[in-house]
Amino acid sequence: MCGIIGYVGHNLCIPKIIHGLENLEYRGYDSAGIAYVLNNKTKIIKEKGKISNLKKLLDFDTTTNLGIAHTRWATHGEANKINAHPHSLGKFTIVHNGIIENYSKLKQELENNGYVFKSETDTEVACALLDEIYKQEKDILKALNKVTKIFRGSYAFGIICSDDPNAIYALRCTSPLIVANSPDGNFIASDVPAILKYTNKYILLDDFDIAKLTKDNIIIYDEFLHETKKKVNTFSGTFESAAKNGYEHFMLKEIHEQDKVFKDTINFYFDGTIESLKKNFSFLKKYNKIDIVACGSAYHTGLVGKSLIENYVNIPVNVEVASEYRYKRCFYDYNTLVILVSQSGETADTLAALRKAKNDGITTMAIVNVVGSSIAREADHVIYIKAGCEIAVATTKAYLAQLAIFSLLTIYLGYQNKTISENELNIILDDLKKMPKLINDTIKNNSYFDIADKIYKNKQIFFIGRGIDYAISMEGSLKLKEISYINSVAYQAGELKHGTISLITKNTPVIAIATDTKLIEKTISNIKETKARGAYVIYVSNEEPSEKFYDELIKIHKVHPILQSILTIVPLQLLAYKVAKNNGCDIDQPRNLAKSVTVE
Ligand code: M6R
Repeated sequence: MCGIIGYVGHNLCIPKIIHGLENLEYRGYDSAGIAYVLNNKTKIIKEKGKISNLKKLLDFDTTTNLGIAHTRWATHGEANKINAHPHSLGKFTIVHNGIIENYSKLKQELENNGYVFKSETDTEVACALLDEIYKQEKDILKALNKVTKIFRGSYAFGIICSDDPNAIYALRCTSPLIVANSPDGNFIASDVPAILKYTNKYILLDDFDIAKLTKDNIIIYDEFLHETKKKVNTFSGTFESAAKNGYEHFMLKEIHEQDKVFKDTINFYFDGTIESLKKNFSFLKKYNKIDIVACGSAYHTGLVGKSLIENYVNIPVNVEVASEYRYKRCFYDYNTLVILVSQSGETADTLAALRKAKNDGITTMAIVNVVGSSIAREADHVIYIKAGCEIAVATTKAYLAQLAIFSLLTIYLGYQNKTISENELNIILDDLKKMPKLINDTIKNNSYFDIADKIYKNKQIFFIGRGIDYAISMEGSLKLKEISYINSVAYQAGELKHGTISLITKNTPVIAIATDTKLIEKTISNIKETKARGAYVIYVSNEEPSEKFYDELIKIHKVHPILQSILTIVPLQLLAYKVAKNNGCDIDQPRNLAKSVTVE
C-alpha cells in the first residue's frame, strides 16, 4: 500500500527516484509526489493520478542529489493533489506508508497549539507533531524517537528536515522499509523492486529503528538511539524478474511463469523422496486441528487447503478471513496450528491474526512469498513459496504456488497418517512430475480468449461449483471482478436455487466448474437449472461430458484431485485477463486496489 523511495548520493536524484517510483507503482497509484533539496531548500511537486502525470511536471536535469518520493493509495482523504505526499509542516517533509490511528486527537491538540493543516491526511499531522517535538528537543534523532512513543498504528516514513538538508531520515513501525547502499548512492524504499537497478543488497529496518542517510553514509539507530549494525540481505530475483519482458501486462507475464513457479516451489521442498518432505515438514505431524487465516486470494487457497487436508489427512480445518478472525472467539486446543497465508507477508489483517494466535500461545506457520517480510519473520515456522517478484495487483503465480504448497503438505501428512496409501502416493507423484508441462499446456490453450470475446460485455458473470470447485470458483470470480469491474459472484452450485437463480436471465454467463468426479453429476443438474433460465454456460471440467448442456467447454487435463485445482485455475485467470483487456481496463493496476494491504 503506497510506495516510498528516497535517494541521496553523488548523482542527480530525480531520474533515480522516478525510476524507482515507477517500479513501486503497483503499490498505489492514486497520486504521486516528490520532495527534493535544491540550494538547501526543500521543493515539493505532486500530482493526482499516476506517476506519468507527475513526470510531466518535473525537470529531470534539476541539480539535486537528495529527494524522497511517494506513490499513494489513499487512506485519509480523497485521492487528490492536496492529500498527495510528500507533506510538509514546519521544518519537516514526510512521505508515509501506513495509518496513524490516533491522528485525529493529535490533530486537535496541534491545532490548539497553532498548527494549520491543508490536507485531510494523518501524514501532515505527523509532520506537525515532529516539528513541535523537535522545537523542544532541538535534536532530530530524539524527536523521531519520541514520536514513536506517541503514534499508534503503522508507519514507514521517509523524512527531510530543513535543518539538516543533506540527510534523509527513515523510521518504521509495522510498515516495511528498507535502506540500501549502492555504488550510485544510498536509498530508502518500501520494497526491493524500487532499488533493484542499483543494488540487490538491502537492510530491512526493524520497528522503531531510525536510519540516517547521507551521500556517503548510512547510520542506523535502535529504539534506544544506539548505533546498530544490521544484517545485509540479498534479493535473489533479478531486475528482469521485476520487468514485463515483452508481455503486454505483468499479469499475463506472471500467468506464463506459473509452470516454472510450480517447479521451483515443489523442488525447493521435495527431491522425489518422502524423506525430503519429512525434513521440511515433520514439525507439522503433531497438530490435529488447523486454522488457516488469510485475505483475498490467499484466503481462497486456504479453502482449497481445507478441502485437501480434510479429505486426505482426515483432520479438521477451519478457514477464516483474517479481518474477522482477529476479533472472533477461537476454540484453540494444545494441538492447534494456525497457518497464515500471504503473498506479501505484510497484509495488516493477516499479521494481526498471527499476533493474536501467538499471544494465545498457539504455534503459527506462514506460507509467504516475500522473504524477510513481517509475517515471515514473526511466524514460528515459515514455508516460502518460490513465486519471485509478483507485480500485478491481481495475484496469479503466487496463488498457484500457495496451492502447490497445500498439495505438498497434504501429500506429506496424508502419507504420514496413512490416509494416503503407498499405491495412491505413487499415482500422485507420477502426476506431480507431469505438472509443469500440464500447466504450460493449459496456459498455451488459446480457446479461453475466444470465450472471453463472447462474454466481456455482460454486466454480471456467475461462477458455480461444489466442494473444492467452489473454492476455485471464488478465486475465478475475484480475479474477474477485481480487474474487469464486472459484477461477479461465486456460488455453491447447489445453493443457487435458494435465491440467486432469480438473477439468471437470457445470456447471463455462468462459469461452472466441475472436476470432482463424485460431484460432477450434481453440478450438471445445477447447470441445467441455469440453462433452463437462459444462462450462457461455460463448462470447465476434466471429464468429457456425455451430453451437451453447455455453450462453451473448457476441457482441462485430469490429474490426481490433490493437484487438480492447480490446473483448473489457469483458464479462469486467462479468461479474467482477456475480459478486462477487452473492456479497456488497467489490468495491472485496477482502480482502488493496491498490491499489499498494510492497513486494517
Ligand atoms: O499479500 P497477501 O497475499 O496477504 O494479499 C492478500 C490479498 O490482499 C490479495 O490476495 C488480493 O485479494 C489480491 N488482489 C487478489 O488478486
